[in-house]
Amino acid sequence: MKIAVWTACLLSSVAAYPSVQEHQSNDYPWRAPKATDRRSPCPMLNTLANHGYLPRNGANISMEILIAGLKTSVNLGADATEVVGAAALKGSTTGNASTFHLTDLDKHGLIEHDGSLSRADIYFGDNHSFNATIWAQTASHFTSPIISLATAAKAHKARLAAAQIENPQFNMSASDVQASMIETALYLSVLSNDTGATAVSAWVQKVFTEEKLPIKEGWKRPEGEISVSTLTALVGKLVAEGM
Ligand code: HEM
Ligand SMILES: *[C@@H]1O[C@H](CO)[C@@H](O)[C@H](O)[C@H]1NC(C)=O
Ligand SMILES: *[C@@H]1O[C@H](CO)[C@@H](O)[C@H](O)[C@H]1NC(C)=O
Ligand SMILES: *[C@@H]1O[C@H](CO)[C@@H](O)[C@H](O)[C@H]1NC(C)=O
Ligand SMILES: *[C@@H]1O[C@H](CO)[C@@H](O)[C@H](O)[C@H]1NC(C)=O
Ligand SMILES: *[C@@H]1O[C@H](CO)[C@@H](O)[C@H](O)[C@H]1NC(C)=O
Ligand SMILES: *[C@@H]1O[C@H](CO)[C@@H](O)[C@H](O)[C@H]1NC(C)=O
Repeated sequence: MKIAVWTACLLSSVAAYPSVQEHQSNDYPWRAPKATDRRSPCPMLNTLANHGYLPRNGANISMEILIAGLKTSVNLGADATEVVGAAALKGSTTGNASTFHLTDLDKHGLIEHDGSLSRADIYFGDNHSFNATIWAQTASHFTSPIISLATAAKAHKARLAAAQIENPQFNMSASDVQASMIETALYLSVLSNDTGATAVSAWVQKVFTEEKLPIKEGWKRPEGEISVSTLTALVGKLVAEGM
């Protein structure tokens, strides 16, 4: 009897699986941004705009739109989105203090900081675009199919150290360093293989280099909500691993 119930559950979850995929790929198809569409220095926000979870033109984003987009797509909790969303609104150039453009996130010192995993420091002129040379430094650490906490910590630490050497005006405040640690915790959480503690290298590559959700590669929206406390706990573990 127990086995029969368990089998029924399993079958129904198997049956439900294609509809989840269908929902994601049909309702939110990936499309390359048009030349006039605005994008940000955040690989995930760009990805979500490319799928239509955020406005595809990257313009006039309210807190409401941001919270709903991040919750629906990657299960980021409203508490976490509100923290960064409030910082984003401080850089608003839309003419409405309740909305921002994705390009407003380029503003240095709000969230944007030196020592990014895939972007150049502001000193080099483009603090916004994916930079293949810098990403290659980071990705050189991702030699296994799974990115462990220790590997993510090492990649982060090495990028900060390299930026400090390369950039004569390198400048990260304590809160910049904290933000960059949270960004590592974010990609690990969203692109986790369900253990919650490790990410799939190919999925991380896809999001950074193509700004596309790795649905074809097997990624699914995390089942558990990613909240401020989840992220803080993960940063703690990363620090324990040497980040
Ligand atoms: C689950 C959702 C999110 C994920 C997985 C994510 C992931 C990331 C990652 C991995 C980076 C580091 C990029 C790098 O160092 O090259 C980053 C940077 C950034 N994120 Fe996000 N992010 C998320 C949500 C948000 C939200 C809600 C905002 C603000 C509204 C935001 C704003 C930024 C900004 C401005 C940067 C640039 C920081 C910099 O490298 O200078 N992100 N994000
Ligand atoms: C953003 O909103 C403003 C004010 O509502 C509007 O004038 C502008 O056209 C919008 N921008 C885009 C790109 O949709
Ligand atoms: C500003 O944006 C908010 C959020 O979208 C909206 O509710 C409000 O009506 C806008 N204000 C004006 C003056 O357009
Ligand atoms: C370093 O950054 C902080 C905060 O972003 C800023 O207040 C400070 O003026 C900067 N220092 C230099 C030397 O640029
Ligand atoms: C990438 O960043 C480096 C600085 O680390 C810079 O010298 C290079 O010009 C950047 N590449 C592009 C294509 O912007
Ligand atoms: C940040 O990068 C963007 C995109 O390349 C550029 O327009 C902006 O001027 C940069 N900010 C600074 C202060 O250099
Ligand atoms: C997830 O990662 C863990 C730790 O490396 C590994 O043991 C497990 O097999 C992985 N699971 C999947 C589904 O990839």
